[in-house]
Amino acid sequence: MWTRLVRWIDERLMVTPLWRDIADHPVPDHVNPSEHVKAFVYCFGGVTFLLIIAQFVTGMFLAMYYVPDLVNSYTSTAYIMHHVIFGAQVLAMHNWGSSLIIIMVTLHMVRIYWMGAYRKPRELNWVVGATLMLLMLGFGFTGYLLPWDEKAYFATQVGVNFVKYVPYIGNWLFLVVAGGSKIGAATLSRFFAVHVLFLPAGLLAFLGLHFLMIRRNGITGPY
Ligand code: HEM
Repeated sequence: MWTRLVRWIDERLMVTPLWRDIADHPVPDHVNPSEHVKAFVYCFGGVTFLLIIAQFVTGMFLAMYYVPDLVNSYTSTAYIMHHVIFGAQVLAMHNWGSSLIIIMVTLHMVRIYWMGAYRKPRELNWVVGATLMLLMLGFGFTGYLLPWDEKAYFATQVGVNFVKYVPYIGNWLFLVVAGGSKIGAATLSRFFAVHVLFLPAGLLAFLGLHFLMIRRNGITGPY
């Protein structure tokens, strides 16, 4: 009965041909660590992607309890840590994951640079990758404010003050980023919206582009 149901749905959605197109693509020997020990460097991008999925999942659970306003942000974070079942673990995974991602993206970037994988025809994918890196840094910066403790408040103050030094538009840019003349309620709402809506939307779009271009251009090597 289940197989008939699955076949019925598949006939309508045509998922199998799409999946076969993705999954039947052969991975070249020089990228396979069981053939070449050094091939493990090719996994950095994939590991980054797995960590991103983990961030989405843990972030979704944190959003069930976190309240992004001046009165509740600190207390709701403390509530997650001390009262929610597995709350401390999920928060720690999200926290550690954010640092691990930056380490893995950097290693991935070094691998691309070291192998010259940014050269023709992959120049545009390097640019897409660099945008992904900026998006990841944006996640880190906006997420840091959310617990609304002293460390978050003063670190964000330092970070946001930097934009004042942009020539000509610095002061205006500060207003845009902070949502007012100083860091406060508007900044917190803004950072939360950017962290959970704007940046994930941008990330999904650029990841799709990154993966499409990897399929189109193939993987570099062998060396
Ligand atoms: C969110 C961050 C990123 C993810 C999830 C990601 C994911 C991946 C994956 C899975 C691959 C396939 C091969 C491999 O893993 O090495 C790849 C290839 C590539 N990535 Fe990224 N990447 C990210 C960031 C970057 C950055 C920051 C750059 C450079 C500025 C970059 C440039 C490239 C290029 C040029 C390739 C093609 C490499 C080749 O053909 O050998 N990526 N990426």
